[in-house]
Amino acid sequence: MDVRSFVRALPKAELHLHLEGALEPELMMRLAARNKVDIPFRSVEEVRAAYRFTRLQDFLDIYYRGMDVLRAEEDFHDLTAAYLERAAADGAVHVEVFFDPQGHAARGIPFAVAADGILAALAEGPERLGITSLLIMCVLRHLDEEDGFAAFREAAPYVADGRIAGLGLDSTEKNNPPAKFERLFAAAREAGLRLVAHAGEEGPASYVADAVDRLGVDRIDHGNHALDDPALVRRLAGLGIPLTVCPLSNLRLGGVADLRQHPLKRMLDAGLRATVNSDDPAYFGGYLLDNFVAVAEALQLEAADLVTLARNSIEASFLDEPAKRTHLDRLDRIAGAQG
Ligand code: ADE
Ligand code: ZN
Repeated sequence: MDVRSFVRALPKAELHLHLEGALEPELMMRLAARNKVDIPFRSVEEVRAAYRFTRLQDFLDIYYRGMDVLRAEEDFHDLTAAYLERAAADGAVHVEVFFDPQGHAARGIPFAVAADGILAALAEGPERLGITSLLIMCVLRHLDEEDGFAAFREAAPYVADGRIAGLGLDSTEKNNPPAKFERLFAAAREAGLRLVAHAGEEGPASYVADAVDRLGVDRIDHGNHALDDPALVRRLAGLGIPLTVCPLSNLRLGGVADLRQHPLKRMLDAGLRATVNSDDPAYFGGYLLDNFVAVAEALQLEAADLVTLARNSIEASFLDEPAKRTHLDRLDRIAGAQG
């Protein structure tokens, strides 16, 4: 059986996905027209041609511009619904998605407009597509901690009743170390949120260590540069801290020159709980399954590695234990039948 069909059939969770990064050029053009937003592109081809970034900041500059077309609740709903369809088609049974409330607040879009639109689409997931979800709000690390606190305060009603399940940290990593957000993450933990942070994407191994030690995160998003510090790798493996790895993102942003040099296999061999994810699929040329197939082919991963990656994604999710058990039992049955 080919890799794509094999992996599609495995129950999987996607744990590192920015909804604003799932904004396909077609939808961007449609929303620009619907909301009468001026964008510097006249066609889908022109949008795609602009995606020539080679490092994180170049990408982020385009990403923050692109999200300007998102104005009404319905826009956030349509974006989320479109992503869920793609994820379900790739065999995802559960997704934990990020959004950037400060990226919208800066444009005058209240937290509730973005969150309610997203949550409405996520609520349709189980019945329409057989896919469950959790929503994680990310804080932009290039802004100061007080700005993050303002977003967190706006989110309070959503945090209180569980509509927001977690807090993440994204945007420009260099010179914005985890320590900058120590008080905010402590408050979020106190409020019962699960915690994640981008670390070691472009930043050093010490940022990964600090995300664990100073922010107390449950998962690391990316984590590639942790491999520069063998003692840290042993510690992450011992603690069982999952890494949400994004192969095509790493390729497009210059983290690796060629997928054959991607560290995913080394991570697995070192005992790290790595998972495969798509990050910003509309910008990086592939959804969940595309990431699996590309990295599997480049690294010549075996069926057992692919099953491990699927298992890691369920285990690393914030689902409750019975839900994890259900997915893992199904995974074992399917992997057993295919192997
Ligand atoms: N925001 C959206 N995608 C991101 C990434 N890969 N790294 C940091 N911030 C992001
Ligand atoms: Zn990311």
